[in-house]
Amino acid sequence: MLRTVRATRYVVPLREGGSLPAIVEADDLGLYVVKFRGAGQGILALIAELLAGDIGRALGLRVPEIVLMEIGAALGRNEPDYEIRQLLQASTGVNLALDYLPGSTMFDPAARDAAPADEASMMVWFDAYTQNIDRTPRNANLLVWHRDLYPIDQGAALFFHHDWPSREKKIASPFAEIEQHVLLPWAKEIAAAAQIAHERLTEPVLRRIVELVPDEWLEAIPGDVGVPERRAGYLDFFVRRLDGSAVFEEEAIRAQSRLV
Ligand SMILES: Nc1ncnc2c1ncn2[C@@H]1O[C@H](COP(=O)(O)OP(=O)(O)OP(=O)(O)O)[C@@H](O)[C@H]1O
Ligand SMILES: [Mg+2]
Repeated sequence: MLRTVRATRYVVPLREGGSLPAIVEADDLGLYVVKFRGAGQGILALIAELLAGDIGRALGLRVPEIVLMEIGAALGRNEPDYEIRQLLQASTGVNLALDYLPGSTMFDPAARDAAPADEASMMVWFDAYTQNIDRTPRNANLLVWHRDLYPIDQGAALFFHHDWPSREKKIASPFAEIEQHVLLPWAKEIAAAAQIAHERLTEPVLRRIVELVPDEWLEAIPGDVGVPERRAGYLDFFVRRLDGSAVFEEEAIRAQSRLV
């Protein structure tokens, strides 16, 4: 189960452009980074963030807690900034939020950040499995907090869902993009990570994760794929990609060995 909180105060935008994520306070007095359903990336980015993020958590990676956040029509009403007011008004309903990690910094190899081999290997396996291209040295989407690594921003994963019929083809993708992964230099134990991943991602676990996606998000996707069909499609993707994981594991191991 995911917790649901209610937004009480828009605190500050995280940065210009992009999906305009923001820090928002909720009725449990927590601070969260919110991915707004009304942002340009649309509802599919929230679904990817939830599905891939929860898979990351099931794999033992430190994805910050994911919660659903209710935004009411009143929240944006008094925002002085027009763009933010528009975004909040377009986002009434259920949004996705991650626990805010105050004082965290972005992982940066150029600043001599490093990662343990087992964790780097699991992160590489995770991003190859969920087909996330957004973990590059230029944009690591990996926070360092109290010296530990926290993957954030899984919104670009599961790219197939932007073109639903491409799912069939994407299930068996070797995911050559893994060669750009920021943690690849440390990922010397991919085979061992794969074994652990297979133990943790059982079908009941994957099924439970797919069931976490709110109906109202699946209903909001344009097109004629029904909600049960979508849910079944995601589960089918995860189960079959796991069954055929050798193809992307071998690709990642090859890419890693080319580095040394
Ligand atoms: N849980 C968090 N705790 C602290 N800071 C965060 C958290 N999540 C995101 N941030 C900060 O906010 C920035 C934007 O977040 P995020 O990468 O999730 O948004 P985005 O719009 O998808 O960005 P982009 O697509 O440009 O990578 C991050 O680079 C990071 O600095
Ligand atoms: Mg990002």
